[in-house]
Amino acid sequence: MLYNFDEIIERRGTNSLKFDFAKERGLPESVLPLWVADMDFRAPQPVLDRLVAQAQHGIFGYTDTKQDYYAAIANWFQKRHNFTLQPQWLKKTTGVVYAIAMAIRALTQPGEGVLIQSPVYYPFTGCALDNDRKPIVNQLIYKNGRYEIDFEDFEKKLVDHKIRLFLLCNPHNPVGRVWSKDELRTLGQLCLKHNCVIFADEIHCDFIFPGHQHHVLAAISPELADISIIATAPSKTFNLAGLQNANLFIKNPLLKSLISQEIRRSGFSQLNVMGLVASQAAYETGEDWLEQLLVYLKGNLDLAKSFFQERLAPLEIIEPEGTYLLWFDCRALGLTPKAVNRLIIDKAGLWLDDGAIFGPGGEGFQRLNFACPRSILLKALERLEKALR
Ligand SMILES: Cc1ncc(COP(=O)(O)O)c(C=O)c1O
Repeated sequence: MLYNFDEIIERRGTNSLKFDFAKERGLPESVLPLWVADMDFRAPQPVLDRLVAQAQHGIFGYTDTKQDYYAAIANWFQKRHNFTLQPQWLKKTTGVVYAIAMAIRALTQPGEGVLIQSPVYYPFTGCALDNDRKPIVNQLIYKNGRYEIDFEDFEKKLVDHKIRLFLLCNPHNPVGRVWSKDELRTLGQLCLKHNCVIFADEIHCDFIFPGHQHHVLAAISPELADISIIATAPSKTFNLAGLQNANLFIKNPLLKSLISQEIRRSGFSQLNVMGLVASQAAYETGEDWLEQLLVYLKGNLDLAKSFFQERLAPLEIIEPEGTYLLWFDCRALGLTPKAVNRLIIDKAGLWLDDGAIFGPGGEGFQRLNFACPRSILLKALERLEKALR
């Protein structure tokens, strides 16, 4: 089946977080939203068909999963990421952020530090603070248009703060890095040396641009698999975020039992039936859709890249290696962060994510979600150009 990602699907009036809550968040209602990370595309047709069939059955009782659910995920990760999942490693949760909070509570004590690499997806900090832990920042180094890890500082932070849990983001939202095997190995060795568990948020793992490869952390070595919790979800890959389904891979039985215990403590047991049905269907039938989507997203990225270079100077993009998020540097405008936001919201009429919310190193940057029809992306870029002039 051929998918038409150019189709503009009306999302206003659907209680969409992205489209329908500008006013509640203090923005003009007319803003064009390219912020939160969901896509303006319909999920794969076979997934929609299974959801319709489930709805037509008409009974929404408590549901759990069997071998076929596991097989759908295992086959996907084997085929697309060369990662071999064992059935006993799988732990389903209602979202990755929820799993981060559970890991923080299960593996650290109030007052302790949790290591993060900023600028990073802001719930990393939020989950630590909300659970009375201290976010300890190993800031990424921005050099020649690319982000790198400051390993020396990483180790120092591990030691100085007696860190027991590190939250890795790979691919990294918002800066778009897909960490290389060497980088992951080095991070892993430092964590092994200093007895630190790694929670690897790999939710964006299926959005990798040509020339780059995603490495599931637990596939790098058996030792690393022993200290890692891998978080994945079909929500980004197939645009199912509202169905709240995530899958953790935890090889180490002790880690798995600590996390499971914390989840039980929070009162959570089974997932939402529609989320489970959609997830299994997506991993079983969604590959063709994803392949077409990746080509489309690369086209959007190429468009954005040339538009920035030719028409949006002095703004500079950091070309993403993965994700569908574009991180760009506005500092050469010489405006205050507040003035940059006014330019984007009031003059350009756009709703993006202000880089400052991603923590130290994010100030002066903005994040733009380019998983939308190309005509919408072009409209947004033209608005930005007009505002700059
Ligand atoms: C890195 C990262 N982790 C987690 C999430 C959200 O995951 P969930 O909706 O499963 O909590 C997002 C969404 O943007 C994300 O970018």
